[in-house]
Amino acid sequence: MTQADIGLVGLGVMGANLALNIADNGYKVAVYNRTAEGTQAFIEKAGHLKDMFIPCYSTEELVANIKAPRPIILMVPAGAPVDQQISVLKDHLKDGDILIDAGNSDFHDSNRRYKELAGTPFNFVGMGVSGGAEGARFGPSIMVGASEAAYGRIEPILKAISAKHNDEPCVALMGPEGAGHFVKTLHNGIEYADMQMIAEVHEVLTETLSLRLQEQAEIFSKWNEGPLASYLIEITASVMAVIDEETGKPILDVILDTAGQKGTGRWSAVEAHLLGVPATGIDAAVAARCMSASRALRQEVAELYPQSDAVLTWEIKQEGIDACERALIAGKIAAYADGFAVLAAGGKENGWDLPMGDIARIWRQGCIIRSRFLDEIAQAYDENSDLKSLYLAPAIAERMKDAVPGLRDVLSLSITNSVPTPALSAALNSFDMIRQKRTAAYVIQGQRDFFGQHGFERTDKEGSGFHGPWPAGGA
Ligand code: 6PG
Repeated sequence: MTQADIGLVGLGVMGANLALNIADNGYKVAVYNRTAEGTQAFIEKAGHLKDMFIPCYSTEELVANIKAPRPIILMVPAGAPVDQQISVLKDHLKDGDILIDAGNSDFHDSNRRYKELAGTPFNFVGMGVSGGAEGARFGPSIMVGASEAAYGRIEPILKAISAKHNDEPCVALMGPEGAGHFVKTLHNGIEYADMQMIAEVHEVLTETLSLRLQEQAEIFSKWNEGPLASYLIEITASVMAVIDEETGKPILDVILDTAGQKGTGRWSAVEAHLLGVPATGIDAAVAARCMSASRALRQEVAELYPQSDAVLTWEIKQEGIDACERALIAGKIAAYADGFAVLAAGGKENGWDLPMGDIARIWRQGCIIRSRFLDEIAQAYDENSDLKSLYLAPAIAERMKDAVPGLRDVLSLSITNSVPTPALSAALNSFDMIRQKRTAAYVIQGQRDFFGQHGFERTDKEGSGFHGPWPAGGA
């Protein structure tokens, strides 16, 4: 039997779909799963692609059935299972083999694994894959952390299986070590902010305009034809229109209001803080998911502080809808500006020199946050590869200036009507803060010097370590 071009370990939904995608592109795949039943079930369901797979029932069999040098993709849950698989496989691997972790791994783990395995004859690659189950099957966006040599060897397969934007493959080398997983983490952080802001605007439309889900589905579909065009807006319209078969109600009316999370959003927020480049929209989105999960406490507090009906609404319905569209545009720009700032800072901190333009380019198709706006971001980096902030790109600045008044109107109304809008508010505050020539931080510096002699700089003199003539009680 001819040997396989590549191996794949882990035939869960993502692994199985990725294997089918690789086979569809003409590469033979040796597949191995923790349970033999999982492997058999996969082969039985492989249909016309069946002959493109070599089912393997042990690690030895897997390794023996791949052409050397062997690329092997691990699609197993992030964390300990990745380390377990590496330790099982590593004794069987030879010179030039490439072990590719394609799960949603913490990039710190990928940094560690890359360094730990640097002394072995084979290479470790940490690879972020976005696009959910559908993307894995028909073309994901792929963010690779690898040495240039290892990337060069797997690039043809990755280009073949990735999503395409105007025929350009949505895959690129982000840098060595955990660079690929770092970029994937921030992708997910932005995904959290995008999703939260969409949910908030839905609530504003419901509370201030009493719009039913069906009507909102139509509004979102319409938005999907404009500057907000994106996968998340598109699926929100679809989700809003679906009716639950059991109750006959819109499905969103019967879905419990507690959001799950696996960690990548939180990792983004934590990393942003560690880098000193807070991403407040992402932060707020993570916090909102946590608060949604405190369902029992929310019921009790709601009893004590009942909501009153909306006291303010839009004079003209269409004006409210348009303001919501602009609020989402402004919120999205702020979240992406923050997200890209964290990417740039993380790249610098880790010595990776992340390709910012490529990141925007490979996110234009295949991934969950794919959107028309990413075309504008890619263009902004084409025009200026050293762009300090997305806010400074002329075309984005024009869009932001046009959209911000809508965000202000939406927030004025939502705050007056007690509609929680944490991510949209954070986005506006972050924007309002970054465009201030003089922030209120001089008060904090005064306080710090008063109680702890921490010193401050002055606006009228060079130097640092000045102290105030504080009255008694001051330091
Ligand atoms: C993607 C998704 C994918 C996954 C999220 C869900 O890019 O394909 O982001 O990675 O669906 O990680 O994450 P939560 O469970 O944390 O929402």
